[in-house]
Amino acid sequence: MPKLTVDGVGQYEVPHGKRLVLALEQDAGIDQLHACGGNARCTTCRVEFLDGEPDNMTVAERDVLAARGLSGIRLSCQIFCNQDMTVRAISRLAGSGRKDAGHEPATRIEPPPEWIDK
Ligand code: FES
Repeated sequence: MPKLTVDGVGQYEVPHGKRLVLALEQDAGIDQLHACGGNARCTTCRVEFLDGEPDNMTVAERDVLAARGLSGIRLSCQIFCNQDMTVRAISRLAGSGRKDAGHEPATRIEPPPEWIDK
């Protein structure tokens, strides 16, 4: 099982192939935002990778990051836990002013992923 390390929080073994946004919430117990429900629209599921960043990404992730001029972050709703990873949780409910983290993302990546090299 891949190890997910959340900087300053802890290290967790997560099921291979689990969506990172769900691993952060369910395995690491982080109050990770996912305002659009994991559909590559809001970017609130963003994390910063310190190690183990996947070298591929979905077209949906690439497009929304480009449209918003964002770099140096990845969208946890568009990433599977297929390897050991170390991330910084930089977008959490606490302090966000939002009333909740967003509706629960599905177990599958949505929209249906088209993979490209990062
Ligand atoms: S972009 Fe909205 S939850 Fe990932």
